[in-house]
Amino acid sequence: MKVLITGGAGFIGSHLCEKLIAQGDRVTVIDDLSTGKYENIGHLERNGNFRLVIDTILNAPLMEELVKEVDVVYHLASAVGVNLIIEQPVKTIETIMGGTDVVLSAARRYRRRVLITSTSEVYGKGIKVPFSEDDDTVQGATSIRRWAYANAKAMDEFLAFAHWHETRLPVICVRLFNTVGPRQTGQYGMVVPRFVRQAMKGEPITVFGDGEQSRCFCHVYDAVEALIKLMACDEVLGKVVNVGNPEEVTMNQLAQRVKEVTGSASEIRHIPYEVAYAEGFEDMRRRVPDITRVKGLIGFEPQRSLDVILRDVMAGV
Ligand SMILES: NC(=O)c1ccc[n+]([C@@H]2O[C@H](COP(=O)([O-])OP(=O)(O)OC[C@H]3O[C@@H](n4cnc5c(N)ncnc54)[C@H](O)[C@@H]3O)[C@@H](O)[C@H]2O)c1
Repeated sequence: MKVLITGGAGFIGSHLCEKLIAQGDRVTVIDDLSTGKYENIGHLERNGNFRLVIDTILNAPLMEELVKEVDVVYHLASAVGVNLIIEQPVKTIETIMGGTDVVLSAARRYRRRVLITSTSEVYGKGIKVPFSEDDDTVQGATSIRRWAYANAKAMDEFLAFAHWHETRLPVICVRLFNTVGPRQTGQYGMVVPRFVRQAMKGEPITVFGDGEQSRCFCHVYDAVEALIKLMACDEVLGKVVNVGNPEEVTMNQLAQRVKEVTGSASEIRHIPYEVAYAEGFEDMRRRVPDITRVKGLIGFEPQRSLDVILRDVMAGV
């Protein structure tokens, strides 16, 4: 199978590349190396089945060429990370909505299957536990920049389903919940690599707010296996599906686990949101995936626990 991965030099994309190459696929990556890194995929360049194109997905003529050459497209390229989204709001919206439009238009022309990586952020400020795919989304005010990411990703889903509705373009939207593992950088606000790095350096582990907000962390290997199975699943076409690990942990518990796993003596220090982020920042207390749909479609069951995740992140730091 010939595969195009947008954002393939990123954290999730690079693991996806490795897995697809290992199973004998021919992989082309397009990445502008904005948050992705050459070192994530440099080792694959020795493999004849791998090709890297360094450019932006906003280059529509190039995307046409690349999409035409392949059988399927995994679309991962995106502005990612709370800090980056807050600091570069225009780029965030242009990359997410503009980029997905380019990808879907090229896929429509050549009738290629596309898997789009959306996000649990789409559920917004919803308070239901767990979140199921057909739940209402509850978005914050447009004056709060962080909501641009969720809304732009939601528009990507709308656009994908519009193509499915009008021309039966084979699209799949995957709402990834927090995905973690080796190669994820803490630079853009990702909590697990940041805690692990702080603990290993003996610096204070900085927990934002009261630390009682919780998240569910899925190992990137589990997530990538799900993406590959979903791409091969005909029943999921035209649908959105959650992929995540329902095991829930508060930030206070996470900081404590990180201390234990790393054997660190770091203190756990709480920092108010207004200090950590710009004023008016909003966060969600809980965000738990309902994985009934993905279980039914591909038998998905996360295999790796939080401790395995932390050990793997530690080894990769
Ligand atoms: N990691 C998570 O927890 C998580 C959760 C929900 C959704 N997602 C989604 O999964 C996808 C991959 O995220 P990730 O965590 O690997 O982040 P990442 O930042 O490591 O990967 C994104 C990649 O896209 C590339 N990119 C950005 N703009 C581009 C452009 N205009 N042209 C070409 N390449 C461009 C970046 O250089 C990077 O390599 C994203 O769509 C993200 O929204 C991730």
